[in-house]
Amino acid sequence: MPRIFSGIQPSGELHIGNYLGAVKNWVELQHQHQCFICIVDHHAITQPYEPDAFEQRTLDMAVGLIAAGIDPDKCVLFVQSHVAAHTELAWIFNAVTPIGYLERMTQFKDKSQHQESVLAGLLNYPVLQAADVLLYKADLVPIGEDQIQHVELMREIARKWNAKYCRDFFPEPQAKIGTAKRIRGLDGQAKMSKSLGNTVAMLDEPDEIWEHIRMAQTDPARVTRKDPGTPEKCNVYALHQHFSAPSMVDEVADKCRGAAWGCVDCKRVLADNVAQTFSPMRERAKQLQDDPKALGDTLATGAARAREVADETMAGVREHMGYLIQHAGY
Ligand code: TRP
Repeated sequence: MPRIFSGIQPSGELHIGNYLGAVKNWVELQHQHQCFICIVDHHAITQPYEPDAFEQRTLDMAVGLIAAGIDPDKCVLFVQSHVAAHTELAWIFNAVTPIGYLERMTQFKDKSQHQESVLAGLLNYPVLQAADVLLYKADLVPIGEDQIQHVELMREIARKWNAKYCRDFFPEPQAKIGTAKRIRGLDGQAKMSKSLGNTVAMLDEPDEIWEHIRMAQTDPARVTRKDPGTPEKCNVYALHQHFSAPSMVDEVADKCRGAAWGCVDCKRVLADNVAQTFSPMRERAKQLQDDPKALGDTLATGAARAREVADETMAGVREHMGYLIQHAGY
């Protein structure tokens, strides 16, 4: 079975952008692939974060992923910092990665803009991401569009390391983009992101889902209820395509064009469908939250399974690079 690896930051709750853009895809892929899903806490510390909330956010992300359908028996689900080899391999990759490549990354350019002092960790973020994937010699990396550049970079890092130390040791992983490309934020911004505050969380209660969707930006041409709209210009319509039945999607489009519905009516239907889609996941999440011990065990098992593969890769890396191998009894 081809192996896939993907990662997600421990931002706490999953939102519908994470779900449609990545997680839903992972859930489908786990049946025909050997699947490694990693909560990337070491990546999260490259941006300002709250240490006091960090542990809980990591646990909440694990709950969200399992509730969304990631099956820890099928997938190796684990926390990045539990497998020390990630940072070790990242260090090694730093020694084959030209700084120029890193400075060119769009995400680095965007994120470093907002910081008075740009930290080395932010620049080296994609090197750690390369280590994540290559440690498991994964074939495929299912991700959102915004991560394509990082996957291209990890292919270059694999090539550079292989050229220097051992031909064909690391396979070049391929990006796999899901069907739902970019999910715009509720405010119409390019990206749905928790830090932009324009999301709907997957595990929100129905009234919270409604509160968020009620405020969503629609086609600006619909100033009053009587103004006809263009569904293709409306983010609420885009979300209907993910959460409503095809016949309802058609009805939404007709009623928007013909101004038969106001945007509020249209949002009401969307909010109900979103709440309904995630209702089994809310139930599952509650069960998981009720048993923190079991959740901890699940993550420990995931880390142990990940470590087995990672340690084997690291043994090869050290050997090919000429490191002194540690022997028992030293
Ligand atoms: N950078 C990814 C994101 O922000 C998260 C990530 C870290 C990742 N390591 C990964 C994704 C490895 C895929 C593979 O979405």
